[in-house]
Amino acid sequence: MNATLLTGMNEHLKLEFKASHEYRAMSVWLAANDLPGFSKWMAQQSADELLHAQKFIDHMVERDQAVQLPAVAQPPASWESAEALCRHVLENEQAVTASINELYAMAEQAKDRPAIVLLQWFVNEQMEEEAAARAILGRIRLGGSGVGLLMIDQELATNSMPGMPAEPGAAGA
Ligand SMILES: [Fe+2]
Ligand SMILES: [Fe+2]
Repeated sequence: MNATLLTGMNEHLKLEFKASHEYRAMSVWLAANDLPGFSKWMAQQSADELLHAQKFIDHMVERDQAVQLPAVAQPPASWESAEALCRHVLENEQAVTASINELYAMAEQAKDRPAIVLLQWFVNEQMEEEAAARAILGRIRLGGSGVGLLMIDQELATNSMPGMPAEPGAAGA
C-alpha cells in the first residue's frame, strides 16, 4: 500500500476510536439524565464505531501493512443538553466524513482498488450516520423539551423514529 494512504488510514483510526469513546460517555450521561432511549442509541453508535475501526484494521492486516493503534483521550463527562450533545454528534460525523473523503482521494490518486472498494462502504455509511444525527437533531429542535423530548426518547428506545433506519447501526455491521 502507498505510504501516504497507509499513514492516512492509521490516522483515521484515531477518529473512529475517539468517536466510540465519546459516544460511550454520552450514553452514560444520557442514562444518568433519564433518557434511556437516547442512551441506547449512543451505546449502539459507540459499538458501531469500534466495528468501523476494525474494518480498517482488518484491511491493513490482510494486506500485511503495519497497524498503529492510537491513544484515546478522556472524553467529556457531561453536556449542556440533549440538543447540544446531538449537535456534537453531527459535528463529529461530519469530521469523520471529511476524513473518509480525504482517504478516498488518496486511494484514487494511488489507483488502489481494494482501498477504494473499502472506502465506498464508508461513504455510504457516513451518509446514513449524518442523516440519522440530523433527523434526531431536527426533532429535538421542533419539540425537544419536556414531553417532546420524552417522546423522542421513546422513539429511540423502540427504534421507531421516522427518518431513521429500522435498526440504528444495522448498516454498521
Ligand atoms: Fe465511524
Ligand atoms: Fe459514526
